[in-house]
Amino acid sequence: MSGPIVVDSVAALRAQIREWRRDGLTIAMVPTMGALHDGHISLVRIALERAARCVVSIFVNPRQFAPTEDLDKYPRQLARDLDRLREAGAHLAFTPSVAEMYRPGFATKISVGGPSSGLETDFRPTFFDGVATVVAKLFLQAAPDCAVFGEKDYQQLCVVRQLCGDLDLPVEIIGAPTVRDAHGLAMSSRNAYLGEAELAIARKLNAVLRQTAAELASGADEARITSDAAEALVRAGFRKVDYVAAREAVTLGSWRRDRNGRLLAAVWLGTTRLIDNVEIPSA
Ligand code: PAJ
Repeated sequence: MSGPIVVDSVAALRAQIREWRRDGLTIAMVPTMGALHDGHISLVRIALERAARCVVSIFVNPRQFAPTEDLDKYPRQLARDLDRLREAGAHLAFTPSVAEMYRPGFATKISVGGPSSGLETDFRPTFFDGVATVVAKLFLQAAPDCAVFGEKDYQQLCVVRQLCGDLDLPVEIIGAPTVRDAHGLAMSSRNAYLGEAELAIARKLNAVLRQTAAELASGADEARITSDAAEALVRAGFRKVDYVAAREAVTLGSWRRDRNGRLLAAVWLGTTRLIDNVEIPSA
């Protein structure tokens, strides 16, 4: 099968979308920063089930990286990504340059409240402004019917839903389950930074979260059990725990036992930061 159409300008993207629209075809979008792994490909599969055409954007968005973060070393491997998209059957890869996305003089930012407060924002205060701004641009550029986002980045998924609801963006947001390796480690482009010894530690994160969620569901005290979990993660070898927190599943406000809950965590292994989350089973 031939590979995806590759376009790097907004004009060429819009021309192709117009042509598909003329033919009455529906369009699903999968925004990514490339270095595609099985987690990303699972989103492409869901997109292909939902719409006639699947557009994948590959753009390492500088606006969501703080100056101290890994923008320069973030993995970039376009040829390999296009191979993976061909195998998966995606129809179009949108690969804009930074200059195409942010023209000289670009001066707008979208700041979502609600679910963006706390958790990641306590440690990466401008991250969701960067995400919301680029996702809004991508939706306005491609005007898809729906877009697929991973639960791996659970707070991001909630922020994107809030963004679309608040701005009446006519894009249905589909949440996709986290794809993990055989040991439970959530697939992530940043796992490429980990050595063998670090990988062995990283693989303990999900087990600790699942255990903690089960204890929360069975009535354990929230403050005590989440601080015990943070200690258990440090004992397991993580250098630092940014947070382990139980939240209400949609608003990410305080968790109450009679509501669907989510347990979210961010931890450090050396200089690599990992995030993961699990459902808190209802009692
Ligand atoms: P990126 O980290 O490349 O992730 C792109 C999409 O893949 C996100 O929706 C993310 O949640 C999903 N994803 C990553 N790992 C996954 C896994 N193991 N299982 C399932 N889905 C997974 O998230 C971003 O890029 C950016 O912030 C972006 C939304 C593209 C805006 O720049």
